[in-house]
Amino acid sequence: MRCLVTGGAGFIGSHVAEALVRRGDEVVVLDNFSTGSQDNLRDIPTLEVVKGDVRDSVLVAALARGTKAIFHLAAEVGNLKSLRDPGLDASVNILGTINVLRCAVDCVVKKVVYSSSAAIFGEARFLPVDESHPTQPESFYAVSKLAGEKYALSFARLFPIETVCLRYFNVYGPRQGHSEYASVIPIFAERLSKGLPPVIYGDGEQTRDFVSVHDIAAANVLAADSSFSGEVFNIGSGVRTSVNRLNEVMQASMCVRLAPFHAPPRAGEVRHSLADISKAGRMLGYAPSVSMEGGIAELVSWLREGS
Ligand SMILES: NC(=O)c1ccc[n+]([C@@H]2O[C@H](COP(=O)([O-])OP(=O)(O)OC[C@H]3O[C@@H](n4cnc5c(N)ncnc54)[C@H](O)[C@@H]3O)[C@@H](O)[C@H]2O)c1
Repeated sequence: MRCLVTGGAGFIGSHVAEALVRRGDEVVVLDNFSTGSQDNLRDIPTLEVVKGDVRDSVLVAALARGTKAIFHLAAEVGNLKSLRDPGLDASVNILGTINVLRCAVDCVVKKVVYSSSAAIFGEARFLPVDESHPTQPESFYAVSKLAGEKYALSFARLFPIETVCLRYFNVYGPRQGHSEYASVIPIFAERLSKGLPPVIYGDGEQTRDFVSVHDIAAANVLAADSSFSGEVFNIGSGVRTSVNRLNEVMQASMCVRLAPFHAPPRAGEVRHSLADISKAGRMLGYAPSVSMEGGIAELVSWLREGS
């Protein structure tokens, strides 16, 4: 099967591209390399890589022609980043998604798998968070990811195209970038590897659903292969881990012992998050296969190999 992976040079997209190549698909990656890198693709053979923008309708149509599925991951990613530049966030995440969907329809692509985010839910009103949980986006990023979902679902209703939206919880694993916008695992890893104490905001008892990037890649493949359309699925591990527990697991794996530094809680951060993954299990056959300890051990050995 010929597939297009937008954002395929990024953290998650490179793993989706790799999973598709490994099972024998012909894969084209489209990426503007704003945060992605060639390094992320160096271990993946037989990839066609095109540098370009998801908002470029001529380019996306040219790449979509003849493909069976588009995995749409290209995005401006991050809550804080979106607060600094909401226009860019909306342009790439909303207009870019509309462009991908329009090109997919015009080029008779069978399916688009859209990468959404648990950020669309905001503070959880109940746990675990299932697909019917109310959405209350608390950043421009979350607004744009929700808008992308709505467009993907509307396209499936209005045009002859199948779309599926996957709402990822807290994804981690090899190739995850470290920047001022990074999430807690790469930030902890960076500090611990330099012998610096991890900074924990608040009491550390806030919880997250950390899910390995390998399970996210597997969910993408399952979604593309399924016959479902117009559906959203929560994709997490189904396990709730506190930031304090994460710190313990990471320190044990990295063989360090450093007392954490507690900073005041950060405004706008949700207290608890946990995915109900039963719908994805029932309909897609999704079953997370990587434990927190196993996933962190893999991340640590990747870091030790020099990333
Ligand atoms: N990392 C997470 O925990 C997480 C959680 C929920 C959802 N997501 C979603 O998963 C997807 C991938 O995120 P990621 O964590 O791998 O981030 P990432 O920044 O590593 O990947 C995004 C990729 O898109 C590319 N890109 C950005 N703008 C582009 C444009 N205009 N045209 C072409 N390419 C462009 C970047 O260069 C990068 O390679 C995103 O859609 C994001 O919203 C990520």
